[in-house]
Amino acid sequence: MATHQSSKKTACVIGGTGFVASLLIKLLLEKGYAVNTTVRDAGNQKKVSHLIALQNLGNLKIFAADLTNEGSFDAPVAGCDLVFQLATPVNFASEDPENDMIKPAIQGVLNVLKACAKAKTVKRVILTSSAAATSINRLNETGLVVDESNWTDVEFLTNEKPPTWGYPVSKTLAEKEAWKFAEENHIDFVTVIPTLMTGPSLTPDIPSSVGLATSLITGNEFLINALKGMQMLSGSISIAHVEDVCRAHIFLAEKESASGRYICCAVNTSVPELAKFLKKRYPQYNIPTEFGDFPSKSKLIISSEKLIKEGFSFKFGIEEIYDQTVEYIKAKGILKN
Ligand SMILES: NC(=O)c1ccc[n+]([C@@H]2O[C@H](COP(=O)([O-])OP(=O)(O)OC[C@H]3O[C@@H](n4cnc5c(N)ncnc54)[C@H](OP(=O)(O)O)[C@@H]3O)[C@@H](O)[C@H]2O)c1
Repeated sequence: MATHQSSKKTACVIGGTGFVASLLIKLLLEKGYAVNTTVRDAGNQKKVSHLIALQNLGNLKIFAADLTNEGSFDAPVAGCDLVFQLATPVNFASEDPENDMIKPAIQGVLNVLKACAKAKTVKRVILTSSAAATSINRLNETGLVVDESNWTDVEFLTNEKPPTWGYPVSKTLAEKEAWKFAEENHIDFVTVIPTLMTGPSLTPDIPSSVGLATSLITGNEFLINALKGMQMLSGSISIAHVEDVCRAHIFLAEKESASGRYICCAVNTSVPELAKFLKKRYPQYNIPTEFGDFPSKSKLIISSEKLIKEGFSFKFGIEEIYDQTVEYIKAKGILKN
């Protein structure tokens, strides 16, 4: 099957400081791509230190750009073959999700796409959406299978406003608006729909999704409750290794036949099932296994069948995902043994 050649191609990664984007940049540089990346505050040494370190691997240029600043993506996108849009405002504690997350997420993706349309060199744009844009619904059944035809029920979220509702609304509406703009402007556009990601991170701080995924091991009550909330709202605890998600981004960028949305999920489980697995694998940690009347099974599974049929293989299953994550948080001093 034909693929786009990677040698001497330039990719732009929007939001380079992030957990996923910084690893994506590393993999692109290792494949021989020249990379332009955007950060909000290029002068913030702490936030860009891991990107400066990546400049040893190849040709990486860092630009300043903000999602809310139309025109700020023109320079980093100019001359690029591929554009990966990963930046998104995340503020789960926001009291004003409309202005803190929803509007800037939509405005941001449109600003990036406008720069791509202007550049005239961009062969494909890859947007990182989220399982949170597919799986949230009002259905009470179990045994549901979520695929790329499903969209999160925005009306339910905006009417009921369950905790963290702003984030899934921002991801759903940003992806929908992006599809509309890409179709109207004939942009070759693909979306990657990852579930909760964990694994070692290049970022100076431990990413919040790693904190959430490891909450049963670290015993952080607040995050254990957030994980339970995720199962209740999204219908499952669905997980992927961050490296597999980055590999999927590059796979879909290079595969000419790729088109539409692609879910990227390695494991579907529930909080009680995950706790049971973790307790057995890491008996040295005080992992809770009693959850009272909390649902022991997930309501749905999130299917990566389309991605696998396209030819992608996952490298990491649940054992490797957690073994690598545990080693990583140990090295960061979060776990003692
Ligand atoms: N992590 C997960 O489990 C998960 C799961 C599903 C989907 N996703 C999606 O994957 C993508 C990357 O997630 P992540 O976990 O790597 O997130 P992250 O580490 O929180 O990174 C988010 C990035 O967005 C940038 N950003 C936020 N507001 C911005 C603005 N107004 N202008 C420009 N940049 C802005 C941040 O830049 P600053 O450094 O300047 O703050 C940061 O680089 C996101 O689209 C997210 O929705 C993540």
